Amino acid sequence: MASNDSIKKTLLVAVALCIVCSLVVSGAAVLLKPAQVKNKALDRKSNILAAAGMLEPGQSSAEIEEKFVSRITPKIVDIEAGRYTTELGVANFEQRKVAKNPETSTDLGDADDVANISRREDYAIVYLVETDGKLDKIILPVHGYGLWSTLYGFLALEADLNTIAGFGFYEHGETPGLGGEVDNPKWKDQWSGKVVYDEGEVAIKVVKGSVDTGKSGAEHQVDGLSGATLTSNGVTNLLKFWLGEMGYKKFLTNLKSGEA
Ligand SMILES: Cc1cc2nc3c(=O)[nH]c(=O)nc-3n(C[C@H](O)[C@H](O)[C@H](O)COP(=O)(O)O)c2cc1C
Repeated sequence: MASNDSIKKTLLVAVALCIVCSLVVSGAAVLLKPAQVKNKALDRKSNILAAAGMLEPGQSSAEIEEKFVSRITPKIVDIEAGRYTTELGVANFEQRKVAKNPETSTDLGDADDVANISRREDYAIVYLVETDGKLDKIILPVHGYGLWSTLYGFLALEADLNTIAGFGFYEHGETPGLGGEVDNPKWKDQWSGKVVYDEGEVAIKVVKGSVDTGKSGAEHQVDGLSGATLTSNGVTNLLKFWLGEMGYKKFLTNLKSGEA
């Protein structure tokens, strides 16, 4: 009888174990993929609703889905033209893929690359909240580099297209407790009611320290993140970019005059 300690048997057991384990891991990855995709989509919808102040605590995934479908209208914007386009459908639109593809994005020179993103997508998906056909709010996807990572978020504007309804990031890799404080609800609460433009120029910014509410210009300012000026600057820069000439400014101007 062959000994169980033989090299052949040891190798056989090791190989069999590897095969079984890899089958379990890859099987789990394949089986869980649809759930992951669904959860990611749900998370995105929650963040869009949250930016617009329409997400209530404790809402179930079915309630979030229902609210999103009934209240939010996604549309694609041609950023360069500053108008809606039907060239691309909303169903399979993936903005990050659009941004990576040289055919559907623009290489930003150093002078224009305020948000430190290298390329800007030529098309973006925006989300409208309408009541009786009238615009209530618009939610714009924004992104830009902080200290360690690209921060991805949604900025909601009121119908005047100048007052911020809400702002939040759904993905970033900044340090918890420092740059990661962009997720602190108290910090996020400050954005609502702040004003983006001052005489046509992007004036909204994160200041160093606290906003002096008695001084003029406070309506364009949000408190800095303590010990995280670099992330704070990243947030200012990404807003400057996306609300400026290379971002949504042309579209917002056209939307205001009914020409989008
Ligand atoms: C481990 C480590 C992680 C840090 N993470 C961040 C960060 O996520 N965001 C940030 O702005 N600063 C971060 N900092 C601090 C920056 O290096 C820098 O000191 C800070 O942004 C300056 O802001 P202050 O002038 O408000 O102190 C980190 C520092 C260390 C040592």
